[in-house]
Order: sequence, then structure tokens, then C-alpha cells
Amino acid sequence: MCIGSEEDLEKLKRIGRIVALTREEMLRHVRPGVTTAELDAIGAEVMERHGATSAPKAEYGFPGATCISLNDQAAHGIPGSTTVREGDLVNVDVSAELDGYYADTGATVAVPPAADAALALCQCSYDALLRGLDRARSGVPIHGIGRAIYREAHSRGFTVIRNLAGHGIGRKLHEPPDVFNFFARGDDRPLEDGQVLAVETFVSAGAQLVMEDPDGWGLRTPDGSLVAQFEHTIVVTAGRPIVLTAL
Ligand code: CO
Ligand code: CO
Repeated sequence: MCIGSEEDLEKLKRIGRIVALTREEMLRHVRPGVTTAELDAIGAEVMERHGATSAPKAEYGFPGATCISLNDQAAHGIPGSTTVREGDLVNVDVSAELDGYYADTGATVAVPPAADAALALCQCSYDALLRGLDRARSGVPIHGIGRAIYREAHSRGFTVIRNLAGHGIGRKLHEPPDVFNFFARGDDRPLEDGQVLAVETFVSAGAQLVMEDPDGWGLRTPDGSLVAQFEHTIVVTAGRPIVLTAL
């Protein structure tokens, strides 16, 4: 969507803050021994306390309040009995709705003690998100965001997943356009002032595609390469974007 009124912005800020608080509360509880179902319950409680509704559950029937993806799983991990272990890469992705407005955010942490390679991948993915956000200004082609993410990943010996993307957001969880993590040929439409986007990095240690897990939800690299995702929902302006999911 594009912001059309002060009310749009206020309501997006409200849901943006709720998903950010949910993300942080979940990340605070990531430690060896916790199950992904326990982390999900913590997230569900924060959303419920603020009156927000889990978007993947409501929009797609996802079997969880949040997505929790470990290691070579890049997205849409179903919370369950899986136990977090030392060295795991744990991604939490939280999207929710309040008053008809949506926001989406994600972050990845490496559970200490973690391998240097996992820590470097996480740091690169976070830095790539900041690079992408820095390019998200009105008038810049949409693929400018992905190009910045791609360059940051490749400059540090990593690559990006090509069949996952950021997206428009606002009145639904997923709206056009796709925001790929690479230079998507032809997508040179300029970003618009007030445009609301979920920019998400899928930085990979090797694979460039993910495949669906047998459960029909999880998306995983076929060769076991690790993936680290970070995501913010933003409003495009002529300068730096308004980051709705930062605290
Ligand atoms: Co997300
Ligand atoms: Co998203």
C-alpha cells in the first residue's frame, strides 16, 4: 500500500511496534533447551496482549503464531517440539494485523557458542538489510534495494536465495511488488513516496534456491547451507525510510 493519510501511518506504526516487541521478546528467550513451540507461545502471548492477530495463521492457516526457522531452513518453519541447541541459527519471523493494518519483521541469532561462519553470516545479513534500506528512497528503482543486498552478501563471500523475496505490505500481509535480493531484470519501477514495503534479506552460505519441506511449509536449502534472514517493514520517503519495526 501507499500511505494515504495520517491515520494510515499511525496505525502502521502501532502494528509495527507490536511485531517488533514480539520479535524481541522471542529473541530474549532463545537459549539451548527451549523448544520452538515454547518460543512461539511467548510470541503469541505478546501479540494477544496487544490485541494483534497473527497474520500467517489468519491469512494462510499457518500452524503457528510465528515462523521459527533453524539453520538451513530459510523461512516458514513450523513451531514444534524441536529443541534449540548450542550453535544453532534461529530465525524468528513475526507478522501480525491490527485494525486492518499489517507489519512483518524477522531476525536471526546464533546461539552461543556458535561457529565463526554462522556469526559472520548473521552479521552480513543484518548489514545487508541496512544497505538495502539505505537504498529504499522514492525515485530509486525497486531493484536498487536487492542490488544493494546482493552486493553486500557477495562482497563477504556469501550469496542470496533467489526464490524468496520481500514484498509490499500494509492492508494485507503480502502485496505487490516482490522485492528480490538481487537485480531483478526489468523491475525498474521507481519506489514511491509513502510506499510500504517489507524488505527481507535471505543471505545464504551457498545455495541460491530453497525447496519445500515435506510438511508443506518449511523452505530449506537442498544442500544444508545456512541461511540468515532479517526483515523490517518500512515506509519509503525521499530520505531514509521510516522503519516501522525498529524499537
Ligand atoms: Co516475515
Ligand atoms: Co515478509
